Amino acid sequence: MTLDLAVTDTQAQPNRDKPTLPDAQTVTAVKHWTDRLFSFRVTRPASLRFRSGEFVMIGLPGDNGKPILRAYSIASPNWDDELEFYSIKVPDGPLTSKLQHIKEGDQIILRPKPVGTLVLDALLPGKRLWFLATGTGLAPFASLMRDPETFERFDQVIMMHTCRGADELTYGRELVENLRNDPLLTEMFGAEFADRLLYYPTTTREDSPLMGRITDNMTSGKVFADLGLPPINPEEDRAMICGSLAFNVDVKAVLEGFGLREGANSEPREFVVEKAFVGDGI
Ligand code: FAD
Ligand code: A2P
Repeated sequence: MTLDLAVTDTQAQPNRDKPTLPDAQTVTAVKHWTDRLFSFRVTRPASLRFRSGEFVMIGLPGDNGKPILRAYSIASPNWDDELEFYSIKVPDGPLTSKLQHIKEGDQIILRPKPVGTLVLDALLPGKRLWFLATGTGLAPFASLMRDPETFERFDQVIMMHTCRGADELTYGRELVENLRNDPLLTEMFGAEFADRLLYYPTTTREDSPLMGRITDNMTSGKVFADLGLPPINPEEDRAMICGSLAFNVDVKAVLEGFGLREGANSEPREFVVEKAFVGDGI
């Protein structure tokens, strides 16, 4: 699939395959993880600067020529030459019913205006940083985990990711495993770097080594016992939440129960929240 994006100069069309809009980017790789999840990489506009954890609007032209744009967390870190995204496939979704068919060489629309609350600057300094995600809510943390600045600011990073089924964890699992063996990070932070990135993947509707909702594993103390960490406390722990609205609301309540307060870009505190998607009548 190659997009025929509207051109601004109707006279000169030397090469119709070449991006003619500043917002067109070329797909460089696509990988399907399950029948509901895929990731893809696109060229990065030279002018695009973003903070790891932020999101942008991406999309495709609709049948009427008007772009169908949706918010997407950038899953790649800010030092990467390309941009990576991790996406759901909603069967009747206006964008993802089409986006799931993109191939290398196709073009997508990318509005280069990154925003978001899941950024390191929105947190006060601390010792441990907890990334708490369900489903594609992992995406902003895929960016932050790959950013050395995260490990410059925090001694330990704990990635908790929960999905219904085990195969939905694969993208995150491979990413963490590759990172722990990353030669650059090991050179920067020493051999003990691998021990500073802790991973706690759980499922809720299919058997896997670790089970249960993030909220339950925190309130029961299971995750702290399993990882050998003290219970979350406002002096040492910071957190970022990204999932459905119901998940975000429940995790926020758990963190507030531990004494943490929600922060923002303008007012850094102990945790920040962002929705992984809008929907389900919420
Ligand atoms: P839509 O009409 O947008 O959604 C249809 C329904 O599908 C929704 O009502 C909801 O019930 C469900 N749904 C939508 N997105 C998801 C999802 N990610 N996981 C589970 N159910 C979903 N989506 C991504 O896949 N990856 C991202 O990195 C990502 N980042 C986002 C960041 C922000 C700040 C927000 C607000 C949303 C983000 N989304 C992300 C969701 C994305 O914007 C779209 O909703 C999604 O791509 C589906 O688009 P659609 O047009 O096919 O269906
Ligand atoms: P569960 O299977 O117990 O509902 P979904 O696909 O519905 O968005 O859910 C993705 C994952 O997030 C599932 O493992 C689900 O667990 C979990 N989850 C959904 N809602 C919440 C919530 N309010 N608090 C904690 N975990 C949740």
